[in-house]
Amino acid sequence: MDQRVARRPGPAKQSVALGTSPTTSIRPVERVTPPETATGEGRAAAAKALTVDARGVSLTFQTRDGAVEALANINLQISDGDFVSFIGPSGCGKTTLLRLIADLQKPTSGTILVNGVSPEEARLKRQYGYIFQAPALYPWRTIERNVALPLEIMGFDAKERRARVDRYLKLVNLSGFERKFPWQLSGGMQQRASIARALSFDPALLLMDEPFGALDEIVRDHLNEQLLRLWDQTGKTVVFVTHSIPEAVFLSTRIVVMSPRPGRIIDIIPCNFPRNRTLEIRETPEFIKIAQRVRAGLRSGHSYDE
Ligand SMILES: Nc1ncnc2c1ncn2[C@@H]1O[C@H](COP(=O)(O)OP(=O)(O)OP(=O)(O)O)[C@@H](O)[C@H]1O
Ligand SMILES: [Mg+2]
Repeated sequence: MDQRVARRPGPAKQSVALGTSPTTSIRPVERVTPPETATGEGRAAAAKALTVDARGVSLTFQTRDGAVEALANINLQISDGDFVSFIGPSGCGKTTLLRLIADLQKPTSGTILVNGVSPEEARLKRQYGYIFQAPALYPWRTIERNVALPLEIMGFDAKERRARVDRYLKLVNLSGFERKFPWQLSGGMQQRASIARALSFDPALLLMDEPFGALDEIVRDHLNEQLLRLWDQTGKTVVFVTHSIPEAVFLSTRIVVMSPRPGRIIDIIPCNFPRNRTLEIRETPEFIKIAQRVRAGLRSGHSYDE
């Protein structure tokens, strides 16, 4: 089967991820004062505005084979400018949690606020960009027209679209590939194009679901450094899903370790490396110590029964 076609997202998924009501400008993200009820982790985050505030969030899928409890009692506060990674075994609910934040899924119980409003409202205000695990580019559109897609939907004029496509393709080192089709690019290049597309409308919140999972170590290292630089320079908030402990420790300001299904938060680990960190920090004792704490968290939650 043709993988390119198989990976292509359905139009509904795409339009939901990009928001649905066309508009000619991007509204600035409204900052909110965190609720006074914040406790523990929340209190520490209360000094900064909260981008994501999840309280008592659970999600049970009703399937033909019965109920699947995917997430149980998730409490998580993500501050403005944070880089938060979710790590946990396959099937523990990382994608589901990201989809709840993005309003691609609704919780069974509990509440989620994104920039102080419901995920639905945040989606309609286009406050986030969503990067899927597979690049999810349209094979019949050139790279520049893929990157320009959200801008077309949002009603940007041709000149502004051109300027933004140039700027973001340059940022991800893809200048010169504007007229190529996705299938003429390597997997890493396609993923960079999908990142350029998510950045094109300048969302303050980036939701990234294992964006580099399928790439080799060297390309992944390179893209990790680029992403970190972008985060440092733009002050965006990033929520990032990964299976890689070194990737989580290298990128994050906080790592959320999750248990097997139903997904619960086992540990939230702060990583206080400088924002302009380089790959060399991976050799430091501090880095190794944090990696060990992540591994211990993953082991403690793992049953090995499945
Ligand atoms: N639409 C759905 N209907 C029914 N069950 C679902 C649905 N989406 C996810 N699930 C179930 O919820 C659980 C969590 O799935 P999810 O995709 O969030 O896991 P994940 O942590 O992202 O896993 P991976 O690391 O493999 O990507 C799994 O048991 C999955 O089978
Ligand atoms: Mg997943």
